[in-house]
Amino acid sequence: MDNRTKALCDFLDASHSVYHAQAYLAQTLEAAGYTRLLEHQAWSLVPGGKYYLTRGGSALLAFRVPRGEITGFTMSASHADRPGFKVKENFELTGTYTRMAVERYGGMLIAPWLDRPLSVAGRVTVETEDGVRSRLVDIDRDLLLIPNVAIHMNRQANDGYHWNPAVDTLPLIGGKEAAGKLSALLEQAAGGKILGQDLYLYIRQKAAVWGVDEAYISAAGLDDLECVWGCAQGFLHGKESRAIPVLCVFDSEEVGSCSPQGAASGFLEEVLGRICASLKLELSRMLAQSFLVSADNAHAIHPNHPEYADPGNAPVMGEGIVLKFNANLSYCTDALSAGIFRKICHKAGVKVQSFHNRGDLPGGSTLGHISLAHVSVPTVDIGLAQLAMHSCYETAAVCDELALETAMAAYFGTTLEAAGDGFSLS
Ligand code: CO
Repeated sequence: MDNRTKALCDFLDASHSVYHAQAYLAQTLEAAGYTRLLEHQAWSLVPGGKYYLTRGGSALLAFRVPRGEITGFTMSASHADRPGFKVKENFELTGTYTRMAVERYGGMLIAPWLDRPLSVAGRVTVETEDGVRSRLVDIDRDLLLIPNVAIHMNRQANDGYHWNPAVDTLPLIGGKEAAGKLSALLEQAAGGKILGQDLYLYIRQKAAVWGVDEAYISAAGLDDLECVWGCAQGFLHGKESRAIPVLCVFDSEEVGSCSPQGAASGFLEEVLGRICASLKLELSRMLAQSFLVSADNAHAIHPNHPEYADPGNAPVMGEGIVLKFNANLSYCTDALSAGIFRKICHKAGVKVQSFHNRGDLPGGSTLGHISLAHVSVPTVDIGLAQLAMHSCYETAAVCDELALETAMAAYFGTTLEAAGDGFSLS
Protein backbone atom coordinates (compact mmCIF):
# COMPACT_ATOMS: atom_id res chain seq x y z
CA MET A 1 0.00 0.00 0.00
CA ASP A 2 1.48 3.39 -0.94
CA ASN A 3 1.73 6.24 1.57
CA ARG A 4 -1.22 8.21 0.24
CA THR A 5 -3.54 5.18 0.50
CA LYS A 6 -2.19 4.44 3.98
CA ALA A 7 -2.97 8.05 4.99
CA LEU A 8 -6.54 7.64 3.69
CA CYS A 9 -6.95 4.38 5.67
CA ASP A 10 -5.64 6.06 8.85
CA PHE A 11 -8.21 8.83 8.41
CA LEU A 12 -11.04 6.35 7.80
CA ASP A 13 -10.06 4.21 10.81
CA ALA A 14 -9.93 7.27 13.08
CA SER A 15 -13.30 8.63 11.91
CA HIS A 16 -15.72 6.65 14.05
CA SER A 17 -18.19 9.55 14.00
CA VAL A 18 -18.59 12.86 12.18
CA TYR A 19 -17.03 14.56 15.23
CA HIS A 20 -13.96 12.32 15.13
CA ALA A 21 -13.54 12.88 11.39
CA GLN A 22 -13.55 16.65 11.90
CA ALA A 23 -11.19 16.44 14.88
CA TYR A 24 -8.76 14.42 12.73
CA LEU A 25 -8.98 17.01 9.93
CA ALA A 26 -8.44 19.85 12.41
CA GLN A 27 -5.33 18.09 13.71
CA THR A 28 -4.07 17.58 10.15
CA LEU A 29 -4.57 21.30 9.42
CA GLU A 30 -2.84 22.32 12.67
CA ALA A 31 0.12 20.10 11.77
CA ALA A 32 0.29 21.90 8.41
CA GLY A 33 0.49 25.30 10.15
CA TYR A 34 -3.14 26.42 10.01
CA THR A 35 -4.37 28.79 12.72
CA ARG A 36 -7.72 28.15 14.34
CA LEU A 37 -10.25 31.01 14.17
CA LEU A 38 -13.25 31.30 16.49
CA GLU A 39 -16.58 32.51 15.14
CA HIS A 40 -17.34 34.76 18.10
CA GLN A 41 -14.02 36.65 17.90
CA ALA A 42 -12.94 39.42 15.50
CA TRP A 43 -10.66 38.26 12.67
CA SER A 44 -7.69 40.14 11.26
CA LEU A 45 -6.55 38.07 8.33
CA VAL A 46 -3.18 38.67 6.70
CA PRO A 47 -1.76 37.87 3.24
CA GLY A 48 -0.10 34.45 3.35
CA GLY A 49 -2.24 33.45 6.36
CA LYS A 50 -3.62 29.89 6.69
CA TYR A 51 -6.78 29.48 8.75
CA TYR A 52 -9.51 27.06 9.75
CA LEU A 53 -12.57 27.04 11.95
CA THR A 54 -15.13 24.50 13.08
CA ARG A 55 -18.79 24.81 13.97
CA GLY A 56 -20.51 22.58 16.50
CA GLY A 57 -17.60 20.16 16.25
CA SER A 58 -19.10 18.65 13.09
CA ALA A 59 -18.54 21.22 10.32
CA LEU A 60 -15.13 22.54 9.29
CA LEU A 61 -13.90 25.24 6.93
CA ALA A 62 -10.28 26.03 6.01
CA PHE A 63 -8.83 28.70 3.71
CA ARG A 64 -5.61 30.48 2.74
CA VAL A 65 -5.05 34.13 1.86
CA PRO A 66 -2.91 34.65 -1.27
CA ARG A 67 -0.09 37.20 -1.07
CA GLY A 68 -0.97 39.28 -4.13
CA GLU A 69 -4.12 40.51 -5.87
CA ILE A 70 -7.18 38.33 -5.11
CA THR A 71 -9.72 37.31 -7.79
CA GLY A 72 -12.33 35.02 -6.15
CA PHE A 73 -12.87 31.79 -4.21
CA THR A 74 -12.10 28.24 -5.36
CA MET A 75 -14.22 26.15 -3.01
CA SER A 76 -14.98 22.52 -2.31
CA ALA A 77 -17.85 21.09 -0.28
CA SER A 78 -18.16 17.54 0.99
CA HIS A 79 -19.78 15.88 4.01
CA ALA A 80 -18.43 13.90 6.95
CA ASP A 81 -21.67 12.39 8.26
CA ARG A 82 -22.89 8.95 7.19
CA PRO A 83 -26.10 6.94 7.58
CA GLY A 84 -26.27 4.65 10.59
CA PHE A 85 -27.85 4.25 14.00
CA LYS A 86 -28.06 7.01 16.59
CA VAL A 87 -28.35 6.14 20.28
CA LYS A 88 -31.63 7.27 21.87
CA GLU A 89 -32.02 9.09 25.17
CA ASN A 90 -32.84 6.56 27.94
CA PHE A 91 -31.26 3.96 25.73
CA GLU A 92 -31.14 1.03 28.10
CA LEU A 93 -33.79 -1.66 27.57
CA THR A 94 -33.73 -4.18 30.41
CA GLY A 95 -35.39 -7.60 30.64
CA THR A 96 -34.11 -11.05 29.74
CA TYR A 97 -31.14 -9.27 28.19
CA THR A 98 -29.88 -5.71 28.31
CA ARG A 99 -30.36 -4.02 24.92
CA MET A 100 -29.90 -0.57 23.45
CA ALA A 101 -32.58 1.67 21.95
CA VAL A 102 -31.41 3.26 18.70
CA GLU A 103 -33.01 5.08 15.79
CA ARG A 104 -31.95 5.34 12.18
CA TYR A 105 -29.95 8.31 10.90
CA GLY A 106 -30.32 8.80 7.14
CA GLY A 107 -31.19 6.30 4.43
CA MET A 108 -29.23 3.23 5.36
CA LEU A 109 -28.92 -0.38 4.23
CA ILE A 110 -29.80 -2.30 7.39
CA ALA A 111 -28.74 -5.91 6.73
CA PRO A 112 -24.95 -5.33 6.74
CA TRP A 113 -25.12 -4.06 10.34
CA LEU A 114 -26.12 -7.45 11.75
CA ASP A 115 -23.88 -10.11 13.31
CA ARG A 116 -20.77 -7.99 13.63
CA PRO A 117 -19.16 -6.30 16.64
CA LEU A 118 -20.19 -2.66 17.03
CA SER A 119 -19.30 0.20 19.34
CA VAL A 120 -20.38 3.74 20.18
CA ALA A 121 -18.74 7.08 19.33
CA GLY A 122 -19.74 10.72 19.08
CA ARG A 123 -19.83 13.71 21.35
CA VAL A 124 -21.51 14.38 24.65
CA THR A 125 -21.94 17.51 26.71
CA VAL A 126 -20.83 17.43 30.32
CA GLU A 127 -21.51 19.69 33.24
CA THR A 128 -18.62 21.90 34.35
CA GLU A 129 -18.37 24.44 37.16
CA ASP A 130 -19.28 27.38 34.95
CA GLY A 131 -21.47 25.73 32.29
CA VAL A 132 -21.53 23.00 29.69
CA ARG A 133 -18.69 21.63 27.54
CA SER A 134 -18.49 19.17 24.63
CA ARG A 135 -16.36 16.03 24.86
CA LEU A 136 -15.52 13.46 22.21
CA VAL A 137 -16.33 9.93 23.26
CA ASP A 138 -15.27 6.68 21.60
CA ILE A 139 -15.71 3.40 23.46
CA ASP A 140 -12.94 1.73 21.51
CA ARG A 141 -13.80 -1.94 22.11
CA ASP A 142 -16.16 -4.64 20.82
CA LEU A 143 -19.25 -3.62 22.77
CA LEU A 144 -22.51 -4.42 21.01
CA LEU A 145 -24.00 -6.68 18.35
CA ILE A 146 -27.34 -6.86 16.52
CA PRO A 147 -28.08 -10.59 16.18
CA ASN A 148 -29.94 -12.03 13.20
CA VAL A 149 -32.86 -14.41 13.65
CA ALA A 150 -31.85 -17.99 12.72
CA ILE A 151 -33.02 -19.37 9.38
CA HIS A 152 -34.98 -22.06 11.29
CA MET A 153 -37.21 -19.40 12.84
CA ASN A 154 -37.57 -17.31 9.71
CA ARG A 155 -37.50 -19.61 6.67
CA GLN A 156 -38.23 -16.64 4.37
CA ALA A 157 -35.15 -14.70 5.52
CA ASN A 158 -33.46 -15.17 2.13
CA ASP A 159 -36.51 -14.10 0.13
CA GLY A 160 -36.34 -10.46 1.15
CA TYR A 161 -37.15 -9.14 4.59
CA HIS A 162 -39.06 -6.16 5.87
CA TRP A 163 -36.97 -4.65 8.66
CA ASN A 164 -38.81 -3.13 11.60
CA PRO A 165 -36.43 -0.64 13.23
CA ALA A 166 -38.41 -0.78 16.48
CA VAL A 167 -37.81 -4.53 16.78
CA ASP A 168 -35.11 -5.96 14.51
CA THR A 169 -32.19 -3.60 14.97
CA LEU A 170 -31.80 -3.17 18.72
CA PRO A 171 -28.23 -4.07 19.70
CA LEU A 172 -27.49 -6.48 22.52
CA ILE A 173 -25.35 -5.00 25.32
CA GLY A 174 -25.21 -8.00 27.68
CA GLY A 175 -27.23 -10.09 30.09
CA LYS A 176 -29.46 -8.89 32.93
CA GLU A 177 -26.42 -8.04 35.03
CA ALA A 178 -25.15 -5.61 32.33
CA ALA A 179 -27.86 -3.08 33.30
CA GLY A 180 -26.43 0.36 34.07
CA LYS A 181 -22.88 -0.53 33.05
CA LEU A 182 -22.79 1.16 29.63
CA SER A 183 -24.04 4.48 31.03
CA ALA A 184 -21.26 4.28 33.62
CA LEU A 185 -18.71 3.52 30.88
CA LEU A 186 -19.88 6.55 28.87
CA GLU A 187 -19.70 8.87 31.88
CA GLN A 188 -16.21 7.60 32.61
CA ALA A 189 -15.14 8.23 29.00
CA ALA A 190 -16.73 11.70 29.09
CA GLY A 191 -15.05 12.56 32.39
CA GLY A 192 -18.17 14.02 33.95
CA LYS A 193 -21.93 13.96 34.27
CA ILE A 194 -23.46 13.72 30.79
CA LEU A 195 -26.12 16.35 30.03
CA GLY A 196 -26.64 15.65 26.35
CA GLN A 197 -25.47 13.18 23.70
CA ASP A 198 -24.97 12.77 19.96
CA LEU A 199 -23.77 9.17 19.94
CA TYR A 200 -23.74 6.83 16.96
CA LEU A 201 -23.02 3.14 16.44
CA TYR A 202 -20.00 2.22 14.35
CA ILE A 203 -18.65 -1.06 13.01
CA ARG A 204 -15.33 -2.33 14.34
CA GLN A 205 -13.99 -3.51 10.98
CA LYS A 206 -11.05 -1.46 9.72
CA ALA A 207 -10.52 -0.16 6.18
CA ALA A 208 -9.13 -2.85 3.84
CA VAL A 209 -7.40 -2.72 0.46
CA TRP A 210 -8.24 -5.91 -1.41
CA GLY A 211 -8.61 -7.74 -4.74
CA VAL A 212 -6.16 -9.73 -6.84
CA ASP A 213 -4.56 -6.42 -7.91
CA GLU A 214 -5.36 -4.64 -4.64
CA ALA A 215 -7.53 -2.36 -6.75
CA TYR A 216 -10.31 -1.81 -4.22
CA ILE A 217 -10.73 -0.24 -0.83
CA SER A 218 -13.60 -0.99 1.55
CA ALA A 219 -14.38 0.95 4.70
CA ALA A 220 -17.14 2.48 6.77
CA GLY A 221 -18.24 5.92 5.61
CA LEU A 222 -16.47 6.04 2.22
CA ASP A 223 -19.49 8.17 1.26
CA ASP A 224 -18.33 10.79 1.80
CA LEU A 225 -15.08 10.57 3.78
CA GLU A 226 -13.29 9.54 0.59
CA CYS A 227 -14.15 12.89 -0.99
CA VAL A 228 -13.49 14.72 2.28
CA TRP A 229 -9.94 13.33 2.32
CA GLY A 230 -9.36 13.82 -1.41
CA CYS A 231 -10.48 17.46 -1.20
CA ALA A 232 -8.42 18.05 1.97
CA GLN A 233 -5.27 16.59 0.40
CA GLY A 234 -5.81 18.61 -2.77
CA PHE A 235 -6.40 21.72 -0.66
CA LEU A 236 -3.19 21.18 1.34
CA HIS A 237 -1.06 20.47 -1.73
CA GLY A 238 -2.49 23.02 -4.20
CA LYS A 239 -0.01 25.71 -5.21
CA GLU A 240 -0.78 29.36 -4.49
CA SER A 241 -3.04 31.00 -7.06
CA ARG A 242 -4.80 34.40 -7.03
CA ALA A 243 -7.97 32.78 -5.68
CA ILE A 244 -8.69 32.04 -2.03
CA PRO A 245 -8.92 28.25 -1.73
CA VAL A 246 -11.74 27.17 0.62
CA LEU A 247 -12.18 23.66 1.98
CA CYS A 248 -15.64 23.13 3.46
CA VAL A 249 -16.76 19.92 5.15
CA PHE A 250 -20.38 19.81 6.27
CA ASP A 251 -22.48 17.66 8.59
CA SER A 252 -26.15 16.61 8.23
CA GLU A 253 -26.07 15.86 4.46
CA GLU A 254 -27.67 12.46 4.99
CA VAL A 255 -30.71 14.02 6.69
CA GLY A 256 -31.31 17.03 4.42
CA SER A 257 -28.52 19.44 5.53
CA CYS A 258 -30.75 21.56 7.82
CA SER A 259 -28.61 22.11 10.90
CA PRO A 260 -26.21 24.92 11.90
CA GLN A 261 -23.47 22.60 10.57
CA GLY A 262 -25.22 21.58 7.34
CA ALA A 263 -24.99 22.94 3.79
CA ALA A 264 -28.39 24.63 4.25
CA SER A 265 -26.95 26.77 7.04
CA GLY A 266 -25.27 30.13 6.56
CA PHE A 267 -21.85 28.73 7.57
CA LEU A 268 -20.08 29.03 4.21
CA GLU A 269 -21.81 32.29 3.22
CA GLU A 270 -21.07 33.95 6.56
CA VAL A 271 -17.41 32.93 6.52
CA LEU A 272 -16.94 34.20 2.94
CA GLY A 273 -18.51 37.51 4.02
CA ARG A 274 -16.16 37.77 6.98
CA ILE A 275 -13.11 36.97 4.84
CA CYS A 276 -14.10 39.78 2.45
CA ALA A 277 -14.76 42.20 5.31
CA SER A 278 -11.40 41.49 6.90
CA LEU A 279 -9.48 41.77 3.61
CA LYS A 280 -11.54 44.73 2.34
CA LEU A 281 -12.82 42.82 -0.69
CA GLU A 282 -16.24 43.14 -2.32
CA LEU A 283 -18.13 39.84 -1.83
CA SER A 284 -20.34 40.06 -4.92
CA ARG A 285 -17.37 40.81 -7.19
CA MET A 286 -15.45 37.93 -5.60
CA LEU A 287 -18.38 35.53 -6.15
CA ALA A 288 -18.52 36.50 -9.82
CA GLN A 289 -15.12 34.84 -10.23
CA SER A 290 -15.66 31.92 -7.85
CA PHE A 291 -16.36 28.23 -8.33
CA LEU A 292 -17.61 25.36 -6.17
CA VAL A 293 -16.76 21.67 -6.44
CA SER A 294 -19.48 19.71 -4.62
CA ALA A 295 -17.82 16.35 -3.98
CA ASP A 296 -19.95 13.41 -2.88
CA ASN A 297 -19.60 9.81 -3.94
CA ALA A 298 -21.41 8.39 -6.98
CA HIS A 299 -22.88 4.98 -7.86
CA ALA A 300 -20.57 2.70 -9.85
CA ILE A 301 -22.18 0.25 -12.25
CA HIS A 302 -22.80 -2.88 -10.16
CA PRO A 303 -20.98 -6.04 -11.29
CA ASN A 304 -24.07 -8.23 -10.69
CA HIS A 305 -26.72 -5.63 -11.52
CA PRO A 306 -25.66 -3.54 -14.52
CA GLU A 307 -29.37 -3.02 -15.30
CA TYR A 308 -29.66 -0.31 -12.61
CA ALA A 309 -27.22 1.95 -14.44
CA ASP A 310 -27.84 4.38 -17.29
CA PRO A 311 -26.70 2.71 -20.54
CA GLY A 312 -24.36 5.50 -21.62
CA ASN A 313 -23.39 7.20 -18.39
CA ALA A 314 -22.48 4.42 -15.98
CA PRO A 315 -19.29 5.08 -14.01
CA VAL A 316 -16.87 2.22 -13.41
CA MET A 317 -14.66 1.99 -10.32
CA GLY A 318 -11.09 2.79 -11.27
CA GLU A 319 -11.95 4.88 -14.34
CA GLY A 320 -11.56 8.32 -12.77
CA ILE A 321 -13.57 11.14 -11.27
CA VAL A 322 -17.32 11.11 -11.88
CA LEU A 323 -19.15 14.25 -13.05
CA LYS A 324 -22.81 14.01 -12.04
CA PHE A 325 -25.61 15.39 -14.20
CA ASN A 326 -29.35 15.82 -13.69
CA ALA A 327 -31.71 17.86 -15.86
CA ASN A 328 -33.81 18.83 -12.82
CA LEU A 329 -30.70 20.09 -11.02
CA SER A 330 -30.51 17.63 -8.15
CA TYR A 331 -26.92 17.84 -9.43
CA CYS A 332 -25.75 21.33 -10.39
CA THR A 333 -23.28 20.46 -13.14
CA ASP A 334 -23.92 22.42 -16.34
CA ALA A 335 -21.99 23.05 -19.53
CA LEU A 336 -19.91 25.80 -17.93
CA SER A 337 -18.99 24.02 -14.69
CA ALA A 338 -18.42 20.69 -16.50
CA GLY A 339 -16.22 22.45 -19.04
CA ILE A 340 -14.11 24.18 -16.39
CA PHE A 341 -13.64 21.06 -14.27
CA ARG A 342 -12.94 18.79 -17.27
CA LYS A 343 -10.29 21.23 -18.49
CA ILE A 344 -8.60 21.21 -15.05
CA CYS A 345 -8.67 17.38 -14.94
CA HIS A 346 -7.34 17.00 -18.50
CA LYS A 347 -4.46 19.33 -17.70
CA ALA A 348 -3.69 17.35 -14.51
CA GLY A 349 -3.80 14.04 -16.43
CA VAL A 350 -6.83 12.78 -14.49
CA LYS A 351 -9.55 10.71 -16.18
CA VAL A 352 -13.18 11.79 -15.87
CA GLN A 353 -16.44 9.92 -16.52
CA SER A 354 -20.08 10.95 -16.32
CA PHE A 355 -23.13 9.83 -14.37
CA HIS A 356 -26.82 10.17 -15.11
CA ASN A 357 -29.57 8.27 -13.34
CA ARG A 358 -31.33 5.65 -15.45
CA GLY A 359 -34.41 7.49 -16.72
CA ASP A 360 -36.88 5.45 -14.63
CA LEU A 361 -34.87 5.45 -11.39
CA PRO A 362 -34.99 8.62 -9.30
CA GLY A 363 -31.54 9.21 -7.84
CA GLY A 364 -30.25 10.95 -4.76
CA SER A 365 -29.28 14.54 -4.33
CA THR A 366 -26.38 16.20 -2.56
CA LEU A 367 -24.76 19.33 -1.17
CA GLY A 368 -24.32 21.36 -4.32
CA HIS A 369 -27.84 22.59 -4.97
CA ILE A 370 -28.47 23.22 -1.24
CA SER A 371 -25.30 25.25 -0.88
CA LEU A 372 -26.16 27.16 -4.09
CA ALA A 373 -29.16 28.74 -2.37
CA HIS A 374 -26.66 30.64 -0.19
CA VAL A 375 -23.56 30.93 -2.34
CA SER A 376 -24.59 31.15 -5.98
CA VAL A 377 -21.56 30.38 -8.11
CA PRO A 378 -20.89 27.92 -10.96
CA THR A 379 -20.94 24.49 -9.32
CA VAL A 380 -19.86 21.07 -10.50
CA ASP A 381 -21.15 17.94 -8.75
CA ILE A 382 -18.51 15.25 -8.72
CA GLY A 383 -17.80 12.07 -6.78
CA LEU A 384 -15.90 8.80 -6.84
CA ALA A 385 -17.59 5.68 -8.17
CA GLN A 386 -18.49 3.27 -5.39
CA LEU A 387 -20.58 0.19 -4.63
CA ALA A 388 -22.99 -0.51 -1.77
CA MET A 389 -23.66 3.15 -0.99
CA HIS A 390 -25.08 3.56 2.55
CA SER A 391 -24.03 0.09 3.62
CA CYS A 392 -21.96 0.19 6.82
CA TYR A 393 -18.99 -1.09 4.75
CA GLU A 394 -18.68 0.46 1.29
CA THR A 395 -16.36 -0.20 -1.63
CA ALA A 396 -14.46 2.02 -4.08
CA ALA A 397 -11.26 1.99 -6.17
CA VAL A 398 -7.89 2.95 -4.67
CA CYS A 399 -6.69 4.72 -7.83
CA ASP A 400 -9.79 6.97 -8.00
CA GLU A 401 -8.99 8.47 -4.59
CA LEU A 402 -5.46 9.28 -5.77
CA ALA A 403 -6.92 10.82 -8.93
CA LEU A 404 -9.17 13.03 -6.81
CA GLU A 405 -6.23 14.24 -4.70
CA THR A 406 -4.34 15.14 -7.90
CA ALA A 407 -7.33 16.83 -9.54
CA MET A 408 -8.23 18.83 -6.43
CA ALA A 409 -4.61 20.01 -5.99
CA ALA A 410 -4.75 21.25 -9.61
CA TYR A 411 -8.16 22.87 -8.99
CA PHE A 412 -7.08 24.65 -5.81
CA GLY A 413 -4.01 25.92 -7.67
CA THR A 414 -6.15 27.48 -10.44
CA THR A 415 -7.09 31.16 -10.84
CA LEU A 416 -10.45 31.75 -12.56
CA GLU A 417 -10.98 35.05 -14.32
CA ALA A 418 -14.23 36.08 -15.99
CA ALA A 419 -13.69 36.32 -19.76
CA GLY A 420 -16.61 36.92 -22.13
CA ASP A 421 -19.19 34.14 -21.58
CA GLY A 422 -16.67 31.90 -19.86
CA PHE A 423 -13.58 31.96 -17.71
CA SER A 424 -9.85 32.06 -18.29
CA LEU A 425 -7.96 29.53 -16.21
CA SER A 426 -4.37 30.03 -15.14
CO1 CO B 1 -22.87 11.32 0.34
